[in-house]
Amino acid sequence: MSATATTPSQTPERLEHKGLIEVRDLTTRFKLTQGWVRAVEKVSFWVGPGESLGLAGESGCGKTTAALSILKLLPDNGKIVSGEILFDGKNLAKRTEYGMQKIRWKEISMIFQGAMNALNPVTETGKQIAEPIILHEGISEKQAMVRTRELFDLVGISQKRVMDFPHQLSGGMRQRAMIAMALACNPKLVIGDEPTTALDVMVQAQILELIERLRRELDLSFILISHDLSVMAETCDKGVIMYAGEVVESGTVAHLFNNPQHPYTRQLIKAFPNIHERREMVSSIQGDPPNLLDPPPGCGFSPRCNMKTGECVDDPETFEVEPGHFVRCHLMKRGVS
Ligand SMILES: Nc1ncnc2c1ncn2[C@@H]1O[C@H](COP(=O)(O)OP(=O)(O)OP(=O)(O)O)[C@@H](O)[C@H]1O
Ligand SMILES: [Mg+2]
Repeated sequence: MSATATTPSQTPERLEHKGLIEVRDLTTRFKLTQGWVRAVEKVSFWVGPGESLGLAGESGCGKTTAALSILKLLPDNGKIVSGEILFDGKNLAKRTEYGMQKIRWKEISMIFQGAMNALNPVTETGKQIAEPIILHEGISEKQAMVRTRELFDLVGISQKRVMDFPHQLSGGMRQRAMIAMALACNPKLVIGDEPTTALDVMVQAQILELIERLRRELDLSFILISHDLSVMAETCDKGVIMYAGEVVESGTVAHLFNNPQHPYTRQLIKAFPNIHERREMVSSIQGDPPNLLDPPPGCGFSPRCNMKTGECVDDPETFEVEPGHFVRCHLMKRGVS
């Protein structure tokens, strides 16, 4: 064998991985004067073509940070410390800013948390949707407006509203416009960060139906971020439950809702007792998530866990309790309960 020969897995151009995107052991931290915030710790999941994955957990558990890491859009004090983000054979974690510009919008797009309220109030909505199309597709403003009108149709807003200012549109329409913007350059993967949170229950249901329809029609992969488990239960194929920056349980939606194993997942489901009727959270889990500047040793959930034992001060392993169903908890050593 010559000294320069490489095996396929060493070839930098195309790396082997599961699905369209596989996040492997992603660790992202934020630097503050007091130290490093451990926002995302060794998070792993993968999403297949046309599949939708839900990312759920209480506020501050690292959902947005995981999403911003994928697109390398972290704030200046954020850093991907380790891990791989394998997308279509490339490791995005190692990509330069120039390399990422070819990925954002065209390959992976994101509906940002709270974005529908961040539309520029003095520019017509359609022109704002057309902006990334002009930038990324290199086409004229006139052609981009034709595409914008088609996108309005696709997301169920009348083309007549294309020159409306954001304040002339309802909340649901503004969120549809944000979805249109995410679809503007035909990405393979869309990340929706709390895409329904600010909307009333009826409109939430319509937006989720829209996302589901677009996923089927356009064969899109979706990562749907929500603190609301009903969103995951209704629209996703599989899910990841995060707590204090870590994945505590992952599997198909059936695994998570019919056979939850981690005490945190169980308590979270109890807090949303009627997930299929989209009821508001009626009870909360006692206590608060830990300070991620100085998280407790071992299992981060143990200070709030009603099933904790002496061994919870040690890092739990992740157990595959049934095919494709993973749980990070010492209790799993004794088998599924
Ligand atoms: N720029 C930043 N600097 C320092 N810490 C940050 C920064 N951004 C986020 N964090 C911290 O990182 C942790 C994860 O935050 P993140 O926004 O990812 O959570 P989340 O799950 O999206 O929460 P929410 O449901 O409220 O949107 C939190 O402890 C948060 O305070
Ligand atoms: Mg968030």
